[in-house]
Amino acid sequence: MSNLKKIENFNYGLEKIFPEADDFLPLLGTDYVEFYVGNAKQAAHYYKTAFGFQSIAYAGLETGMSDRTSYVLGQDKIRIVFTTPMPGAGHSNIFDHITKHGDGVKVVALWVDDATKSWEETTQRGAKSYMKPIIEKDENGEVVRSGIHTYGDTVHIFVERKNYKGVFLPKYEKWESNMNPTDVGLRYIDHMVGNVGWNEMNIWADFYNKTMGFANLITFDDKDISTQFTALMSKVMTNGNGRVKFPINEPAEGKKKSQIEEYLDFYNGPGVQHIAVATNNILETVKAMTERGVEFLYVPGNYYDTVLDRVGDIDEDLLELKELGILVDRDDEGYLLQIFTKPVTDRPTLFFEIIQRKGAQSFGKGNFKALFESIEAEQERRGTL
Ligand code: FE2
Repeated sequence: MSNLKKIENFNYGLEKIFPEADDFLPLLGTDYVEFYVGNAKQAAHYYKTAFGFQSIAYAGLETGMSDRTSYVLGQDKIRIVFTTPMPGAGHSNIFDHITKHGDGVKVVALWVDDATKSWEETTQRGAKSYMKPIIEKDENGEVVRSGIHTYGDTVHIFVERKNYKGVFLPKYEKWESNMNPTDVGLRYIDHMVGNVGWNEMNIWADFYNKTMGFANLITFDDKDISTQFTALMSKVMTNGNGRVKFPINEPAEGKKKSQIEEYLDFYNGPGVQHIAVATNNILETVKAMTERGVEFLYVPGNYYDTVLDRVGDIDEDLLELKELGILVDRDDEGYLLQIFTKPVTDRPTLFFEIIQRKGAQSFGKGNFKALFESIEAEQERRGTL
């Protein structure tokens, strides 16, 4: 069977928009993102109150899970999981991960039609196995999961859930909470960025191309992404239907220490740098998140003096954008609005991006300079520039 035929069979009509991508591994989307954290109960509370996530599922001693406690939260198509190790189950990789990295993303789980085939295809192409295909069952059916390693200690888990009707996975129960703040309009994960070490960007871009068939959507060199002081390089990798995009950053030489080096120092190696989530109304989303205590990067007021010269007419009121610190960029297909949180962990590592696309499918190249100067100002305060 040809690759194209396979895509028709597996993709449920999802259009392949990046013909250069090789879809021997059809991905239906991101299934969940799992964070290993020091206190899952409190992390879950923060993401409910501040980010507007809803309670979905819980696993712990009460549900037959002996080595960990996990809370699952959702907002529209986004599903995130917070996991803390429990003592008594012997050596814990979760504990090791937290000791080394602090709170951070362990699993970027991908929704597939066939988790066994996904594992076979990727490991045959050189991916290192993290978890052989396993079948987990309960009264709601069965889920097949398998996994491979990617950069640092981060892993991808393939999730096949077509024969499962439960709330998340076996051993998870519905999480009934009496504290249910409204959502803030977050809809789906637009892209997830990995920071890797010096000269490792091409290695990991090739990894996604070779083992998962991803195409290189765009490359930014150190001339595209630099300020007076610091620089980085980035390659955006995408799967065939464009639903899963992984930009890969590496540090580049500059006069001072770049944000990528700072990340690698504090995370103790490569890992997920930011999760970009899409909204249909960035003004309302950012207003709500700010009121609930999420801190965003500060953009110098003079950014707004010239932004309309660069991007032309936009629907939004410039003053409102300026008040909230929302950035604007335009490409051939339209424009986009974006804003970045400060790190959401104590270590200056993981942060979120909120993005609203109005036609544009790019990544805000026109904002890189203002954004990185803003990050440098934060580094200066931390003494890590
Ligand atoms: Fe981004």
